[in-house]
Formats: sequence, structure tokens, C-alpha cells
Amino acid sequence: MRDNHDEVHDVVLKVATISSGHLLLNEAHFYEDELLGLQGDAVPRCFGFFQGDLGLIKISCLILEDCGSVMEGSLYDVDIATKLKLVEKLDKIHTAGVIHQDLAARHIVMKDNEPYWIDFGEAARHSCRKRMEVTPGDFSPDLHEFGCTEIYEFVERLDLWKSIYVHYQNNVFFLDLVESPEYLYHSLHPAQIETEEQQDQAWREAEETYRFIAEDRKLWIARYGQTQGCQ
Ligand SMILES: Nc1ncnc2c1ncn2[C@@H]1O[C@H](COP(=O)(O)OP(=O)(O)O)[C@@H](O)[C@H]1O
Ligand SMILES: [Mg+2]
Ligand SMILES: [Zn+2]
Repeated sequence: MRDNHDEVHDVVLKVATISSGHLLLNEAHFYEDELLGLQGDAVPRCFGFFQGDLGLIKISCLILEDCGSVMEGSLYDVDIATKLKLVEKLDKIHTAGVIHQDLAARHIVMKDNEPYWIDFGEAARHSCRKRMEVTPGDFSPDLHEFGCTEIYEFVERLDLWKSIYVHYQNNVFFLDLVESPEYLYHSLHPAQIETEEQQDQAWREAEETYRFIAEDRKLWIARYGQTQGCQ
């Protein structure tokens, strides 16, 4: 398709009949309004929205720039540079006043190493209260302090923050409480470690879990001191 400057673009057509037409209309509104300034950056360019009758059927069609192929694999495994771009672009979308409400790998397309967010069918207006920057490798902040649930949960899914919780045998402990593998092991109910095999297994897991969190715990205590933590 040729734009006003005579440039040629590959496009994708999103076509809907009456049953899903309202989602496409919702999406089109966002492209034409709140997301207008982010087209070609955080979201694909939009070349128009058309509605018409085809015999007895009402058809709607949204024309978007083809922004490549959908992201492969899970969000967790994406490289760090792409993760940061995704957060930055999601942040721009929120700042523009939109919450996506269907964040998933299938709604990210990649072209020339650049990710774009797509599918605003479920999106809604949003007044973003995010108050903190996202710094990879920091301990995860309190959701309330952070201020925006969608961005917070997305950053957690990307595993960009260090967890402040320790998971052991279906129990969760606050990081600074876990001072040794014994602390974890002794938290178990006697019924959980009746046989020698169960004891061996539980102890091995306690050691492994502790090895995994020991450095983070030191860092936490150095930074914030030992707290009362909660279980
Ligand atoms: N702008 C685009 N560029 C490239 N591929 C796209 C684009 N928009 C959609 N797609 C492809 O079509 C699939 C479905 O798009 P989506 O907007 O999620 O439709 P639906 O509303 O039916 O869920 C995406 O997962 C992606 O593979
Ligand atoms: Mg979709
Ligand atoms: Zn927000």
C-alpha cells in the first residue's frame, strides 16, 4: 500500500463481521486517537478503518502496517534489550492513556529487531499512576508504591526484578528471614518428612533453595537492614 508520501508499505488487514466488530471498532478508536503519536514506534502505523455491508453481512476492516512476525517463545526467554524496549513501549502506551488488557507474546510483533505492541481490541482508557522507573536487577517494589498493576505484572513476567520472596515446598518466606537451609527445613510439618527419603529430598531442596537466594539476601540486608519481614 502507498502512503501520502508515495512510500510503499506491506499491510495486514484485520477483518471482522458483526460478532467481533465492536472489538475492532474499539481498536480503531485507539489507533486514531490516543495511540496516534505512537504509530510506527510502540504500535504499528494505521492506514484506516472501513465499515460496509457485504450483502446481509456488516464487515469492518482495519488496515495496519505489517510489523513482522509474532514473537517466538515465552516472554521470559527474550533477550534483555528487547525486554527493556517492551517495557518502555508499554509505558508510552500507558502515558498516552491506554491500558492494553491482553498482554501476551502473540500480541508482540518484531521487525528489524524492533518490537511493536498489537491488538487493542480489549484496550481501555487508563490514567496511569506509575510512579517509579523500572530498573532491571532491583528488588521488586511494592505494587502500591509502584502505582500501575499492568506494567508491574508485565515486568514481573519478564523476570526483570529480583524477588523478595523465597518459595520452598509450597511455602513462601520473606527473603531476609531465610538465614540458613535449616530455617527452611524446620518450617516443615513433621508429616511432610516422615520417611528418610522425604527428609533427604526436603533437605536437598532446602540447601539448593538457600544457595540460590543467599547472595540476594546479603544484598537486601546490606541495603535495607534486617526487617521483621512477614511470612
Ligand atoms: N500489524 C501487524 N503486523 C504483523 N502481524 C500482525 C499485525 N497485526 C496482527 N498480526 C498477526 O495476526 C495475529 C492476530 O492479530 P490480533 O490483532 O491479535 O487479532 P485478534 O483480534 O483476532 O486476536 C497476531 O498474533 C499476529 O501474528
Ligand atoms: Mg489477539
Ligand atoms: Zn498504567
